[in-house]
Amino acid sequence: MAVSVSSSSILLLPFLLLCSLASACDRCVHHSRASFLTSSLTLAAGSCGYGKVASSFSGGMLAAAGPELYRKGVGCGACFQVRCKDGELCGTAGARVVVTDRARTKTNDTDLVLGSPAVAAMARPGMAARLAKLGAVDVEYKRVPCEYSGRNLSVRVEERSRAPSELAVTFLYQGGQTDIVAVDVAQVGSSNWRFLTRDHGPSWSTKLAPAGPLQMRIVVTGGYDGKWVWAEREVLPSGWRAGEVYDTGVQITDIAQEGCFPCDTQEWR
Ligand SMILES: *[C@@H]1O[C@H](CO)[C@@H](O)[C@H](O)[C@H]1NC(C)=O
Ligand SMILES: *[C@@H]1O[C@H](CO)[C@@H](O)[C@H](O)[C@H]1NC(C)=O
Repeated sequence: MAVSVSSSSILLLPFLLLCSLASACDRCVHHSRASFLTSSLTLAAGSCGYGKVASSFSGGMLAAAGPELYRKGVGCGACFQVRCKDGELCGTAGARVVVTDRARTKTNDTDLVLGSPAVAAMARPGMAARLAKLGAVDVEYKRVPCEYSGRNLSVRVEERSRAPSELAVTFLYQGGQTDIVAVDVAQVGSSNWRFLTRDHGPSWSTKLAPAGPLQMRIVVTGGYDGKWVWAEREVLPSGWRAGEVYDTGVQITDIAQEGCFPCDTQEWR
């Protein structure tokens, strides 16, 4: 598939170089601490900017991420399997959480702040209340693919958009285990692509959007390098409206590699 040159292609280069150096692994296990929140409401309204829709992600298992995982918002929407190390209180499968917020902890040794549904999911049967009372525990976690069964990657047009040229979108239901690193839009049938700039986390915008209907292409970090995900059909209609959510008709299932040793190849059950 031909990739036409756009300014966003430049973003691929640093990633290609980094990954050829590291020994690649898609399940690196990290050891850290996680603290607990008594409510998940603040996580849904968190700094990633998803808003209320976040409470439907991953069955409401939401987490705030410390600086290393939050990555100034690039880590928004990433999924992690996290389990606590206390064998009496915690099960071996742990909880699958999605990052919707930035952790507001005073120390940097807490990589994840978990909402109550995630804390309950980590606990052995009957142990949830005792676990929750601890407030924080030692954990191990690894990045895992996000799964939104029956849902495609979708874009919400943000309220600050002004049709036809000021377009701001937030990506919802991003599957797989990748970062979105570039986004372009073009009128359906045209190859005159315009790039969007990341505003924050999953939100991207341009003041120079072409007139709709719009197709979209996205670069994600997948495997060892970047990969285009194309939504060549109409994603946004000619009369796109702020506040609406549009299905891209594609889903991301790629897995990006990290560098680590040893690599964990086991499923946590
Ligand atoms: C935590 O990390 C951030 C970003 O790396 C840094 O600016 C801050 O000083 C750190 N705080 C502590 C208490 O180490
Ligand atoms: C996902 O996109 C495909 C087209 O690529 C479409 O047929 C399907 O209905 C979409 N799924 C949902 C849940 O909207």
